Amino acid sequence: MNNTARHDRYSTLSITLHWLTLVLMAAIYISIELHESLPRGHALRRPMEDWHIYLGVCLLPIALFRAVTILRAKIPAIVPQPPTWQMRITKLMKVYLYVLMIGAPLIGWIMVNAEGHVVSLWGLALPSLVSESESLAGLASEAHEVLGMSGYFFIAIHAFAALYHHYLVKDNTLKRMLP
Ligand code: HEM
Ligand code: HEM
Repeated sequence: MNNTARHDRYSTLSITLHWLTLVLMAAIYISIELHESLPRGHALRRPMEDWHIYLGVCLLPIALFRAVTILRAKIPAIVPQPPTWQMRITKLMKVYLYVLMIGAPLIGWIMVNAEGHVVSLWGLALPSLVSESESLAGLASEAHEVLGMSGYFFIAIHAFAALYHHYLVKDNTLKRMLP
C-alpha cells in the first residue's frame, strides 16, 4: 500500500485505516444494539454478541497501530488555520477517540474474563487478561458501558465538526481525510 505522506492530506494508510475504523465501529454498535433489542431465546441474539466481540477484538490491533503511527506522522495543516481554541479541542477529541478505540475493547476483554469466560475469535481462544472476579467484572461492565455509550455522542460531534468545516467554514479539514 502506498503510504507516502503528501503534506496537504493524511497518508493513504491513515486514510484507509480511518474509514475502515468507521465501518468496524458502526458494525460493533449495530451488533450490540441488535443483541440487546432481540428477545431472549432469539436465534440471532447470541451471534450478535459474538460478532460484537469479534469485531471489537479486531479493532484493537488496528487502533494500537494507528496510535503508534500517528504519533510519528506529520499532521497535514488545515487551511485556513482555525483559531487556537478549536485546535486544542480537536486535539482533545483525537485523544478521546483513541481512548475509546483502545479502551473499550480492552475493558470489554477484561469484563468477559472477570465474568469467568474466555474471549474467542471464531472459536480460537485468546489468552485471559485477568482471572475471575465478581467485583472486577462489575466495575469493568460499568466502565465498558459508560465508555461505549459516550462514543455515540463524541463520534457524532467529531463527524458534525468535520462536515461543519467542509460545508460552512469551507476549509480543507475533511479533504485531508478523503481518498
Ligand atoms: C470499540 C470497541 C467496543 C465498543 C465501542 C463497545 C461498546 C459496547 C456498548 C455500547 C455496549 C452496550 C452497553 C450496555 O448497554 O450495557 C457493549 C456491550 C458489551 N460489550 Fe462491548 N464494545 C466494544 C468492544 C468489546 C469487546 C472487544 C468485548 C469483549 C472482548 C466486548 C464485550 C461486550 C459484552 C459482553 C457486552 C454485553 C454486556 C452486557 O450484556 O452487560 N465489547 N459494548
Ligand atoms: C462519518 C464519520 C466520520 C467523519 C466525517 C470523520 C472525519 C474526520 C476528519 C475530517 C478527520 C481529520 C481531522 C483533523 O485532522 O483535524 C478525522 C480524524 C480522525 N478521526 Fe474521524 N471521522 C469520522 C468517524 C470517525 C470514527 C468512527 C472514529 C473512531 C472512533 C474516528 C477517529 C478519528 C481519529 C482518531 C482522527 C485523527 C487522525 C488519525 O489519528 O488518524 N473518526 N476524522
